[in-house]
Amino acid sequence: MKDASGLPQSLLVLGGTSEIALATARRLIARRTRTVWLAGRPSPALEEAAAHLRTLGADVRTVAFDALDAESHETALGKVFAEGDVDMVLLAFGILGDQAYDEREPLNAVRVAQTNYTGAVSAGLVTARALQTQGHGSLVVFSSVAGERARRADFIYGSSKAGLDTFAQGLGDALHGTGVHVMVVRPGFVRSRRTAGLHQAPCATTPEEVATAVELGLRRRSETVWVPGALRVVMSALRHLPRAVYRRLPL
Ligand SMILES: NC(=O)c1ccc[n+]([C@@H]2O[C@H](COP(=O)([O-])OP(=O)(O)OC[C@H]3O[C@@H](n4cnc5c(N)ncnc54)[C@H](OP(=O)(O)O)[C@@H]3O)[C@@H](O)[C@H]2O)c1
Repeated sequence: MKDASGLPQSLLVLGGTSEIALATARRLIARRTRTVWLAGRPSPALEEAAAHLRTLGADVRTVAFDALDAESHETALGKVFAEGDVDMVLLAFGILGDQAYDEREPLNAVRVAQTNYTGAVSAGLVTARALQTQGHGSLVVFSSVAGERARRADFIYGSSKAGLDTFAQGLGDALHGTGVHVMVVRPGFVRSRRTAGLHQAPCATTPEEVATAVELGLRRRSETVWVPGALRVVMSALRHLPRAVYRRLPL
């Protein structure tokens, strides 16, 4: 159960090897989280992540979860909720894809869209219903600044995040007043394994800074969190630039 701080005692991570999610889990374990479920595709990395969190004092279990297999979500995630209440679900899975390659290989682009968007629609609805049945909990969704406005460099990924972001906002409104809180987190470029070697965008951040922002958002019961916070202002200016000008920016 969450206490007055808004921080969870039990956490379910969808995308259990995500570097940003694991930084968030470490931070929450250092506060008051005692039980962690890491849901993900079975792999040594998933077991290693669980073993590491156990060394921090949490009771950690893994569960097989594939975002692309929507038909299995009800059963896979239902098992977790059947074991006890979950105070917070962190929807962290996602793939960046390779824009140039995916433009040439539409089926690859579809995989990005299905993982980031339709996979999240299914997992989001399944977990939201379980949280609603409990009558409490937070669903924290990792969207991206890339979903705010299309960029030539990553519009396949960006469009999947735009869909996810809109879905999560609407779900938050649908659940308003039920005791379930939905928080959309929009990080900018995060320096991590996944972005190593990519051109570093301005306002770059780290998994630990995202984790700090998630904790603060939970304490404040925020609906939207930008990381870093300055991106909110930057994006509100960029959103209104004429296309012809925006297109020429080195973003
Ligand atoms: N890094 C950034 O710059 C950045 C910026 C803004 C937003 N975000 C978003 O933040 C979230 C976490 O990013 P990250 O940097 O921590 O990424 P990451 O370390 O690459 O982790 C991605 C996670 O997604 C999982 N995943 C991919 N396909 C899956 C599938 N079909 N089923 C289940 N899990 C699947 C991966 O599992 P496997 O181990 O099985 O591959 C991994 O756990 C993502 O949604 C990302 O889009 C990241």
